Amino acid sequence: MRVGDRDLRTIWADGDRVAVIDQTRLPHALEIRHWRQLDDTVAGIRDMVVRGAPLIGVAGAYGLALALRADAGEASLDAAGAALLAARPTAVNLRWAIERVRAAVIKLPRAARADAAWDEAGRMADEDASTCAAIGRHGLALLNETAAAKGRVEVLTHCNAGWLATVDWGTALAPIYAAHRTGLDVHVWVDETRPRNQGASLTAWELQQEGIPHTVIVDNAGGHLMQRGRIDLVLVGSDRTTATGDVCNKIGTYLKALAAHDNGVRFYAALPASTIDFRLREGRAIPIEERGAEEVTHVTGADSEGALRTVRVVPAGARAANWAFDVTPSRLVTGLVTERGICPASETGIRGLFPDLVEAAAE
Ligand code: MRU
Repeated sequence: MRVGDRDLRTIWADGDRVAVIDQTRLPHALEIRHWRQLDDTVAGIRDMVVRGAPLIGVAGAYGLALALRADAGEASLDAAGAALLAARPTAVNLRWAIERVRAAVIKLPRAARADAAWDEAGRMADEDASTCAAIGRHGLALLNETAAAKGRVEVLTHCNAGWLATVDWGTALAPIYAAHRTGLDVHVWVDETRPRNQGASLTAWELQQEGIPHTVIVDNAGGHLMQRGRIDLVLVGSDRTTATGDVCNKIGTYLKALAAHDNGVRFYAALPASTIDFRLREGRAIPIEERGAEEVTHVTGADSEGALRTVRVVPAGARAANWAFDVTPSRLVTGLVTERGICPASETGIRGLFPDLVEAAAE
């Protein structure tokens, strides 16, 4: 997507290194990091230099290629996969990426494995960009319907499910980018998304770069806006969606879905097939990542001089807990927007769009 006068993706091959946008520095600075070895990738995923389910999948694929460059044996491949999976447990895209790279290299002679993994990671990056563009085209229909009835569309989104969470285009924001480019009058309510503020810092930055009207709100404002008829549609991403349509996403998503249900507001999750866990039926079985308490107790931002400062917002010594994701049951989800179209959030709906993947998972 456009950043100033540049067209950027979140991740790309730069010679024999992996280049990524450092998302811990946004919106204050646009900095590129380079990874040369597996450990850089694991730390980059764990510390959220890169984040968002589709992006960490592609990052994981590149991480495996870097690991194979150092040691192309099976034990190295398995150890690298385990290290990557442990970096962030909730998004299923990491597992998907690791399995795909493994399948691409395992039958090759050792000497060919690293290059093959590198090429596969590059293909996965390109595919993610075109998959997200397709999600945008399908989701655009939803926005067009609303715009046809009232001339403009008000969307609420939670966390960051824009291009920064993928390779390009994004999931929940892809239809919004598509709509804006066709001249639709769209306005986005952006949940700040405590504790890491991905909405306030990343979604708002993305929308600003694209010139899309938006307003950042505190996480608790969505219900009030829905009661007042200020939201036509809720569009969020997902880190793992079960084969039965339960949607796991950033903490707080469930409360938005409850409020949407109570107010008759449509609630959609936008996600690629790589985010569907075709082997899992129960949302409750999804591992929920717990992160450090300091993400809750401290906040980082720019002071009036533009210098970054981290400040404590709780009494010294206060305990804090930090679950990063929650699960919205399928009954609260109006539909899933995917690269193959929109389906009900149900086993039948998912099977209807992805019969081949449902079958492959059953083997
Ligand atoms: O903890 P994060 O920032 O990786 O969480 C990201 C989200 O929850 C996104 O909404 C999700 O990955 C879907 S993004 C395309």
